[in-house]
Amino acid sequence: MRRYLIAGNWKMNKTNNEAVNLAKRIFSDSQGIEKVDIIICPPFTAIAPVYNVIKDSNIRLGAQNMFYENEGAYTGEISGEFLKSIGCEFVIIGHSERRKYFNETDVEVNKKVKKSMAFGLTPIVCVGETLEEREKGKTEEVVKREIVGALQGQTDMDKIIYAYEPIWAIGTGKTAHPEDANKIHKLIRDIIKTDFRIDETRILYGGSVKSSNAEALMSQPDIDGSLVGGASLDAKSFVEIIKAAANLS
Ligand code: PGA
Repeated sequence: MRRYLIAGNWKMNKTNNEAVNLAKRIFSDSQGIEKVDIIICPPFTAIAPVYNVIKDSNIRLGAQNMFYENEGAYTGEISGEFLKSIGCEFVIIGHSERRKYFNETDVEVNKKVKKSMAFGLTPIVCVGETLEEREKGKTEEVVKREIVGALQGQTDMDKIIYAYEPIWAIGTGKTAHPEDANKIHKLIRDIIKTDFRIDETRILYGGSVKSSNAEALMSQPDIDGSLVGGASLDAKSFVEIIKAAANLS
């Protein structure tokens, strides 16, 4: 039986006070749910205070990004080692907002994946097509390019988590049809199996996941959980998604 994973990406939201309050609510409302893995990814500034709230719970901590160098003259950047030292175990890499607003390329994503693992972090690698690419029938080509780009030259690949996030579905209220999403998840699984010889992989779906659509998406055979943006900013809606996964377990 697969174990679902629900990850909350808080993006650039929540002051430290707000983050601590949200983490406390998620902690109390999700108590007793043991069949689902839960990760929350606050902004950098709130990671340490949130760690103090959840350190004795089954909620784990992730960051939303990191740089691929160890340390040095890289103003404004954060290293994997810093993240590890404040209780992070996971890091989102290659989110489409990073690719779009900060021009992150497949080459940088690859370096970040490598460096995150060197520091003992588990990367959550995001891939997905734009609406234009989808309309041109390029979804599979784009997803394959991003997956192969992220994994080139990596070792220890069996730890990596993937998130398929069609860009047109992020923050728009539009969700991929569960069967269409599953087709891409299956494609990702097949690429990882045939090209990289990894048998077991967790692949999350992201893009306007909410309590009303979570169950339909996660009941698909290749959707192993959700990367949740907007709906993770509210404890009630985030925990409802966690419960949907628990009900399917
Ligand atoms: P959303 O964001 O749930 O708000 O669409 C998902 C994500 O960007 O990870």
